[in-house]
Amino acid sequence: MCKCSFVRVAWLAACLALASTQQEYDVNQPTGDVVFNSVRSADVALIFDKSEIVVNPGEPLYLDCGARGDVRSCIWETEGGEIYQVQDVYENVYTGLTKPENTNGNECGIVVNSATMEHHGHWTCKVFVVGNSLVGKKNVIVTVKPTSPVLEIDDRRSLTVNGNSETPVQCSVAAARPAVTIRWFLGNRDVTVSAATEETPADRGGIYKSISVLRRSFEPADNGKVLMCSISHKTLLAPENATVPLNVIFKPAEQPLTTFYQISPGSDYEVRFNFSANPPPIRQEWRFGESFDNPAKIVAIPSVDGRYTTGLEELGTGMYTAKLLITDFMEDDANMEYVLIVENDMGETPYKVRLSMNEAPAETLSGGAVAGIVIVLLIIIVALCAATYARYRQMFCFASRAESKAHIQDPERNETDNGTANDAIKASTDQVNGKTDSRVANGNGNLEQTHVDEVNNEKKNTDV
Ligand SMILES: *[C@@H]1O[C@H](CO)[C@@H](O)[C@H](O)[C@H]1NC(C)=O
Ligand SMILES: *[C@@H]1O[C@H](CO)[C@@H](O)[C@H](O)[C@H]1NC(C)=O
Repeated sequence: MCKCSFVRVAWLAACLALASTQQEYDVNQPTGDVVFNSVRSADVALIFDKSEIVVNPGEPLYLDCGARGDVRSCIWETEGGEIYQVQDVYENVYTGLTKPENTNGNECGIVVNSATMEHHGHWTCKVFVVGNSLVGKKNVIVTVKPTSPVLEIDDRRSLTVNGNSETPVQCSVAAARPAVTIRWFLGNRDVTVSAATEETPADRGGIYKSISVLRRSFEPADNGKVLMCSISHKTLLAPENATVPLNVIFKPAEQPLTTFYQISPGSDYEVRFNFSANPPPIRQEWRFGESFDNPAKIVAIPSVDGRYTTGLEELGTGMYTAKLLITDFMEDDANMEYVLIVENDMGETPYKVRLSMNEAPAETLSGGAVAGIVIVLLIIIVALCAATYARYRQMFCFASRAESKAHIQDPERNETDNGTANDAIKASTDQVNGKTDSRVANGNGNLEQTHVDEVNNEKKNTDV
């Protein structure tokens, strides 16, 4: 019964195997032709690089195309439908078209001696082989020098932007082939990351119009800097630029409380306070009194008011120095708090000022700076401790490992090695002994017994 079912299973398996091979054969059958074909065309393979060529007018255009094997003839066809037989090119039938220096792997290659606009477009290499033809197609871009970059702004002399809000600035290049690369610079800084460039194909083949829009908010510090749109292109030896100086408008820039130190009593002291504002301030005055919030006295700038003489110095690009000259400086002057109020079209900003007869705090390190230094020192100390500890631990670890190897592990391993060896020998002898016992009964015992004795002796030797 069992045997019978086994045979049945075997039969079934055999049948299945046969069926599957049959199936494989069936599946292979139709692809057989294709395989045959590819084998045949394998000895006439096309050697062709499909990537596009960018060439300046006047430069040679190398149209490479190769074929391995039995080639009957080959031609190049332009996008406009013109056909050049390679054989004709090689026999100088066409002026301006010549045979490449190296036709090895480039059997159907031709050279256009001097590229012109007419050579722009798709070029197709067609290789005729026995009963078939192979085709390679590539795009040739004959460059068109870009038009000058233009910053789309109303006033060419300067670009006025609001200091707090984002102002999009647009730079465009009407036409270029291929499209130009546009970069933006603010002073020396590359700010291209804030820009997005869009390329639109013009009506003529392969020519692009590029528009780049820079979106960023400009800071008071950018006032007076030059904004530049810079384009690069294969036809340009150096980038071409369009520039405009920035006029960033902002309300007088805020500043933290400022203290002037070491004012000698009895001297004439002039407070010189720098601030920036653009457009220029329309109103500025000094206010002072017992507190910042409650000034008793207001002195316009510029003016002369008793012991006080005020003035404003213009430093350029929105920078100013407000001056307050106090004649015969007294302790009372040092006990007052001063506020410089500056207003321009964008708003008003108060600047708090203190005057002190004391020495400036040592090195005038701000709390932040001190905290920073302390943190850095702490980090260094912690790092040093960690490094030292790690090294100590590592040394300790190596040492203990080395020791354990030398004094504990190695002997242990030796022992265990010996142990297992002995165990193995014991086991084998036991087995042999067991067998011997049975064989002794069979009458072959003597020889075996001596052998066992030998083994036992060996074991004893190793034990010793
Ligand atoms: C445009 O600016 C770049 C970068 O500053 C400079 O290398 C290049 O010479 C400028 N191009 C022209 C035409 O001045
Ligand atoms: C104010 O500006 C002038 C001119 O740039 C500079 O020389 C001076 O050091 C500045 N003063 C302060 C307190 O920063």
